[in-house]
Amino acid sequence: MDGMGSPPPSAKKRVKFAFLATVSYALATLVYLLYSTYRPFGTALPINAESIVSRCKALHLTPGPPDNFRARTKSDRFVQGTKPTLIRNASIWTGQDDGNEVVHGDILLDGGLIKQVGSVNASGYANLVVLDAAGAWVTPGIVDLHSHHGVASTPVLTGAYDVDSLQGLVLPWLRSLDGLNTHDETYRLSMAGGVTTTNVLPGSLAAIGGQAFVIKLRPTTERSPSSMLLEPPYTLNGTTVEGQRPRWRHMKHACGENPSLTFSMTRMDTQWAFRQAYNTARLLKEAQDAYCAKALMGEWTGLGEFPEDLQWEALVDVLRGRVKVHTHCYEAVDLDGMVRLSNEFKFPIAAFHHAHEAYLVPDLIKKTYRHPPALAIFAVAAGYKREAFRGSEFAARILNDNGLDVVMKSDHPLLNSRHLIYEAQQAHYYGLPANLALASVTSTPARIMGQDHRIGRIIEGFDADIVVWDSHPLTLGATPQQVFIDGIAQFEDPHVSTKPKSLQHAPITPQWEKEMADAIKYEGLPPLEPKTAKRNVVVFRNVGSIYLKVGGGVKQVFASASQDSFVVVEEGRITCTGTCVGAREQADTIHIDLEGGSITPGLTTYGSPLGLTHIIGEPSTTDGPVFDPLSGPVPSLVGGTLIKAADGLVFASRDAYLGYHNGVTSAVVAPMVAAGGFLAGLSAVFSTGATHKLVDAALVQEVAAVHVVVSMASTVSVSTQIGALRRLLFGGGEGEVQRYFQDVVAGIIPLVVNMENADIIASLITLKKEVEAAKGNSIRLTIAGATEAHLLAKEISEAGVGVILQQRPIPTFWEKRRILPGPPLTEYSAIAALVRYNVTVGIMVDQSTNVRNTRFDAAWAALESNGILGKAEALALASTNLETLLGVGERDAHLVATRGAGSDFESKVVAIISPRSKSVYIV
Ligand SMILES: *[C@@H]1O[C@H](CO)[C@@H](O)[C@H](O)[C@H]1NC(C)=O
Ligand SMILES: *[C@@H]1O[C@H](CO)[C@@H](O)[C@H](O)[C@H]1NC(C)=O
Ligand SMILES: *[C@@H]1O[C@H](CO)[C@@H](O)[C@H](O)[C@H]1NC(C)=O
Ligand SMILES: *[C@@H]1O[C@H](CO)[C@@H](O)[C@H](O)[C@H]1NC(C)=O
Repeated sequence: MDGMGSPPPSAKKRVKFAFLATVSYALATLVYLLYSTYRPFGTALPINAESIVSRCKALHLTPGPPDNFRARTKSDRFVQGTKPTLIRNASIWTGQDDGNEVVHGDILLDGGLIKQVGSVNASGYANLVVLDAAGAWVTPGIVDLHSHHGVASTPVLTGAYDVDSLQGLVLPWLRSLDGLNTHDETYRLSMAGGVTTTNVLPGSLAAIGGQAFVIKLRPTTERSPSSMLLEPPYTLNGTTVEGQRPRWRHMKHACGENPSLTFSMTRMDTQWAFRQAYNTARLLKEAQDAYCAKALMGEWTGLGEFPEDLQWEALVDVLRGRVKVHTHCYEAVDLDGMVRLSNEFKFPIAAFHHAHEAYLVPDLIKKTYRHPPALAIFAVAAGYKREAFRGSEFAARILNDNGLDVVMKSDHPLLNSRHLIYEAQQAHYYGLPANLALASVTSTPARIMGQDHRIGRIIEGFDADIVVWDSHPLTLGATPQQVFIDGIAQFEDPHVSTKPKSLQHAPITPQWEKEMADAIKYEGLPPLEPKTAKRNVVVFRNVGSIYLKVGGGVKQVFASASQDSFVVVEEGRITCTGTCVGAREQADTIHIDLEGGSITPGLTTYGSPLGLTHIIGEPSTTDGPVFDPLSGPVPSLVGGTLIKAADGLVFASRDAYLGYHNGVTSAVVAPMVAAGGFLAGLSAVFSTGATHKLVDAALVQEVAAVHVVVSMASTVSVSTQIGALRRLLFGGGEGEVQRYFQDVVAGIIPLVVNMENADIIASLITLKKEVEAAKGNSIRLTIAGATEAHLLAKEISEAGVGVILQQRPIPTFWEKRRILPGPPLTEYSAIAALVRYNVTVGIMVDQSTNVRNTRFDAAWAALESNGILGKAEALALASTNLETLLGVGERDAHLVATRGAGSDFESKVVAIISPRSKSVYIV
C-alpha cells in the first residue's frame, strides 16, 4: 500500500494547484498594481512587498524534488574525477515491482548516478572500471531510518557526546547537524555492512528533541558535516530558491519512558508539553496564514511584519506538512497519545520508531492524521525495558499483514548499524516476505525519508549507491564484497570470504503460524514454559546429522541423506541411531520428522545478566549490583564475603525461556557489578528451561569461577585495580575472598577477568606469570570481553589463556577501540585470528535479549572464518569451549533437535532432549 509520506501530487492535482497559484498570483499582481498606482487611502506599500508575496505563496508548496529532477545527468554529490564503473554479471535486486524484480545483467555508474541497468551499452565510455560480480547479488545501498551516527559518536568520549540536550522537554529548534562529529569510527564500519545513507536523529530524552538530518556515510573531500548531507533544506544556509518546492525536513519526537524518566515527570506531563508546543506553533501558523491572506489580497494597511519566530518555525513547518516526524514510541498508551495529538493539531507522522506494541494495535496506527506512519522496528530485541516487554519477533510480519509499512532500523550505536541487514534477515526468518524484508532496509526507508526520487532502488537516474554481496543478502552472515556511494567504491582492497552455494538464494524460512497467533492472543507474552513430551519414547526420523560432545570438544558422529534415518530417545537418552527397526515401533511413542535436520549439543550462554534479571531496565526486577570494595565502603556484614550469583538467581525470565526455545540450554552468570565495579564474585551455572531453583537440575553448579572486571571506565585507576588483584592473588583479602583466591592460585577454580583493552590484557598476562613464578602453580585465567585480544593472539596462546568474546565487535569505548572487524575490512575476524593461534575461544553476548540468537552467532563465526571453523568447532564456541573456560565441571548434556536440512535461517529448534530430567521437551 502507498500509505507513507505525502505522495507526490498527481498530475491532475498539480494542474489544479498550478491553476490556483496562477489565479492567486494574477489577483495579487492586479491588486498590487492598483494600489501602487492608485493608492486611494494613501496606503504605503511596503518596500519588500514583492518578497512578502513570494514568501506567502511559497508557504503552500509541498516538499519534493524539482519537476525536472529525473532529467539530471550528474549528481549534485558527484566527485570530480570519479571514473565510470561497470558492474558486470550481477543478480540485481532493483527494489522495483514491490521488491519482486530481479534483473540478471550489468549496471553502469557514471556522474554519481546509475546510468544503465540490465543489458548495458558502455561503448561510449573511456576509462571504464570493470567489476566482474560473477553472478553475485547486488542491492541498493542500505538505508537506515534511525541512527545516531556522529552525535553519539564511537568511541564514546565525553568530548563528543551530542545526542541529547537536557535543556527541556520541547526543543524543536535544535539540529543534529550541529553536533555531527566527522570522526565517528563507525561511518566506515557501517559502510562495511552495506549502509550508505542514514537519518541522524537527536536522542529520545526530550519529547521534541530537535531536527534530524540525512547523511551519506562516505568521507567527503570537504571533510565537513554539511558536505555529508543529502538534500538538506534550502533554509539551512539561508538560501531561498524562488518558486522551488522545499526539501523535506525531519524532526524527532519521543514519548513514554525516556522523556518521563529523564525529567522526573509522567506521561501526562509529556503529553501536555507536546500540546502546549503544538499550540504555540498553531497560533503562529494561523497568524502567518492570516497575514498572508491579507498580503495576497493587497491589504497592506497596518499589516506590519510577517509573524515569525526562529524557535518555532520548524514546528510550524510540521503543521504545514513539510517535516517528516519520527516518533520514538513503544506502547499502546503512548501510540494512542500521539495519534490523538496528530489529529488534534493536524499533522502527519512519518514513522513510529521502536513501536514495540504497534503490532497489537494496527487499527489505532491507521487513525493517525492523513496517513498511517511506517513502523521502524528491531527484529527481535525486546524486553530490555518495561515498554519493550511485549515486543514480538513476529511484529514485522503482522504489521505487514495489516497493510502497514515496515522498516528495520538500527538506532545505531544501540544496535550496530553495520548489521542492519541482519535485522532484515531476522524479520524474514520470522515471516516477513523476502521482497519486503529487503525493501525494509532500502526502498521503504528511502520513501519514508522523502528521498525515494534518488535512493533505495536500482534504476536509471538514481544515485549510484550499490552493494555487491558475497551471498544472498537475506542469508546469515551476508557481507558486502564492495560498496559504492555516489559511484565511488568505498573499499580499496576488500577481503571477500567464499560462501557456499546454499547461501546464494533467499532462505526458505520455517512456518510460524501458531507462534504468530499466540503473540497476538497473549498480547506479546505467550507462555514459554517448556512442555514435556507426554510419552516416554520420542522417535526422530529423517535425521540428517548428529553432533555430540566428545572429549573436550564437539564432533559429528552421524550423517545421513536418507529419510529412513532414526534416532530413538527413551527417558531423555538416545537408545538407537540408524534404521532402528523395532526400537522405533514401540507403543507410547511420539514421532517427530526433522526433515533432514540435526541433533546437536545444547548451547551455553555467558556475558549477559541472564539469570539475574527479568527486565534489565527495571531495577525492581533484577538482582542488582554487588557492593564494590574499590569504589565504596562495603557494609561490615558482607565484608570478606565473595558474593555468589547462585544466591540471587531468578528463573523463568522470558529471555531465559527464549534462549531455551532456541537451543541455549544452560547459562553461566556472574554477579552484576555497577558501572566501574571491580570485584563481581562467583558465577553459577543454571538451566535456562527450569521453572525455579528447586526443580531437579535447575541449579547445575553453585560455583563455577571467580569474576573480576578491570576497566578504564572505572573511577578507580586501572593500576589500582591490577594492584588490588595482585594483592588478592598473593594472599591478601579476608575470609571467603582470601580462600577463593587461594583456590585460583592453586589452579582449582578459573579466574575470569572481564577486560577489553590489549594493554590491560598484557598486564594481566604479566601478573599471571609473576604469581605462577612465585607460587609454582599454573593459574586458569580466562579473558572475557577481550575485544582487543586479537592484538596479542600469540602471547595469549603462549600464556595458555582462554578468551571469551562477542562474535560481532563494536569499538564502543576507547579501551576496545582496536577491533578486528573481519571481512570486507580485514581477512580474519577476531575469533578466527585467535583460533589460528590455537587459543581456546568461547563466544559471549552482552545483553539477555541476544541470548536467543546464540546459534546464529556461532554459525556466523564459522561463515566468516575463511574455513578455519567448521560446524562442530562453531558449536564448541558456544558449548564445550565456554564450559572449559568458565570452570563448568559437569558438561551440560542437553541435546537440541532442529528441523530443516538447509542453512540456519531455514531451520527451527523443535525439541530439547534432557537426560537429567529424563524427558524430551517440545518447543
Ligand atoms: C552503443 O552506444 C554507441 C554510442 O555510445 C552507439 O553508437 C551504438 O550503436 C550502441 N550500440 C547498441 C547495440 O545499441
Ligand atoms: C555470470 O557468473 C556466473 C557465475 O560465475 C557464470 O556461471 C556465468 O557464466 C556468468 N555469466 C556471464 C554472462 O558472464
Ligand atoms: C546552500 O545550500 C544549497 C543546498 O544545499 C546549495 O545548493 C547552495 O550552494 C548553498 N549556498 C551556499 C551559499 O552555501
Ligand atoms: C596449533 O596447533 C596445531 C596442532 O597442534 C599445530 O600444528 C600448530 O602449529 C599450532 N599453531 C600455532 C600458531 O601455534
